[in-house]
Amino acid sequence: MCGKCRAKVKMYGAMFLLGLIILMSRAAEALDNGLALKPTMGWLHWERFMCNIDCDRDPNNCISESLYMQMADAMVKEGWKEAGYEYVCIDDCWPSHQRDAQGRLQADPKRFPRGIKKLADYVHSKGLKLGIYADVGKNTCAGYPGSLGYYETDAQTFAEWGVDLLKFDGCYMDWKLLGEGYMNMSKALNKTGASILYSCEWPLYEWPFRQPNYTAIRETCNHWRNYADVYDSWSSVKSILDWTASHQDIIAPSAGPGGWNDPDMLVIGNFGLSHDQQESQMALWAIMAAPLLMSNDLREICPRSKELLQNRHIIAISQDPLGRQGYRTAKVESFEVWERPLSQNRLAIAVLNKQEIGGPRGLPIQAAPGWKICSPKCNVTQILPQYKEMGVQTPNSNLVVSVNPSGTALLTVTPISSNFPGRQSLHWQHPSFKHKNNIL
Ligand SMILES: *[C@@H]1O[C@H](CO)[C@@H](O)[C@H](O)[C@H]1NC(C)=O
Ligand SMILES: *[C@@H]1O[C@H](CO)[C@@H](O)[C@H](O)[C@H]1NC(C)=O
Ligand SMILES: *[C@@H]1O[C@H](CO)[C@@H](O)[C@H](O)[C@H]1NC(C)=O
Repeated sequence: MCGKCRAKVKMYGAMFLLGLIILMSRAAEALDNGLALKPTMGWLHWERFMCNIDCDRDPNNCISESLYMQMADAMVKEGWKEAGYEYVCIDDCWPSHQRDAQGRLQADPKRFPRGIKKLADYVHSKGLKLGIYADVGKNTCAGYPGSLGYYETDAQTFAEWGVDLLKFDGCYMDWKLLGEGYMNMSKALNKTGASILYSCEWPLYEWPFRQPNYTAIRETCNHWRNYADVYDSWSSVKSILDWTASHQDIIAPSAGPGGWNDPDMLVIGNFGLSHDQQESQMALWAIMAAPLLMSNDLREICPRSKELLQNRHIIAISQDPLGRQGYRTAKVESFEVWERPLSQNRLAIAVLNKQEIGGPRGLPIQAAPGWKICSPKCNVTQILPQYKEMGVQTPNSNLVVSVNPSGTALLTVTPISSNFPGRQSLHWQHPSFKHKNNIL
């Protein structure tokens, strides 16, 4: 090897190490409870079942212990658990309106006759985990008792019940005390000694007043909601994507193993999204390194939606060990290109067709800013709309990605035979996603 090359290898080696150090220091800022090292996967009742407490008239769909037991059963029987979905999560409207004589939260006795501990035992017996819901303020959003003034009591109660995740809402709270409240609960959970994943809504409630401190949020929570609740509609999913893209420089760097931005639930398998739109939500939630918390009826879901939610290639992108959130990197001709750096120098590229008229349209792959990692060659796999090995490509490839209106094509790009290992990964340590030719 000539001296010049050796020097070059050394230089790239040093830069690679520097990249690794940057990566490791990012991870060190996360809440130190060893949880959510990958985006959380599971099921959460809110979007589909809301605050349905009418068990007399609607016993099959009301918020009651049997709803979570049936979901847990379905998760094991229908391949969800095997695909990686693990948490069965309760949202608002589970408690009694009164705390007990010791000031502890208690489940509504009619709808949860055996109590939450027994429900947790049941969910654990299936090899799954149980999530519960509370609120940092005086009341929950639906008017049940909030945890303000009771953080240690409630943390202790949840730990004693064997709860594995807490979704902590932010209604009925003075916004100036949000940070303090969320941090106090984080400490209270830690003090119990139990492993309880901590899902926050701190930034969502702080944004109307000021830009939240994402360093502090990442130190406090395992994931955090930033923006409005998802609805069962394409306009809702689009508004979440738009909000995320327009705040990506602020929020995306704070995502990584141990802490994630949460764009809210997957509504795939419900009523409001076409199949193409469902594919878009799945692909882009994977690109955003979002928690994959489905809110649907697992007892009755259409096979195509189920197949999409269990697509192991998309889940592999979501759960990629590098743990970097993707960015919207280009807007071209009513397409959006979103890209997420993956482990082993790979890249996931999603192409969303936002022209909601006409038929499928094509985008030359070279329009994706990240395509430059295909050098000198790369292997391309298409994951959506159909799985297809696209073979070896070059930077000048004339590959055209075809996408249905409001659908998304999802690809992975694996560079081949770079002379200097670490070179591409280095590129992604310093993502400069702003490209002159593309409007972001
Ligand atoms: C509590 O925090 C400490 C220090 O950050 C950490 O080492 C420990 O694992 C945490 N315990 C739990 C149960 O999260
Ligand atoms: C948080 O804890 C501190 C220290 O115990 C306390 O002074 C403060 O009032 C608490 N804040 C909230 C919102 O509970
Ligand atoms: C944000 O939070 C971090 C960690 O708690 C803190 O060190 C930093 O000073 C805060 N930044 C601002 C601008 O308040």
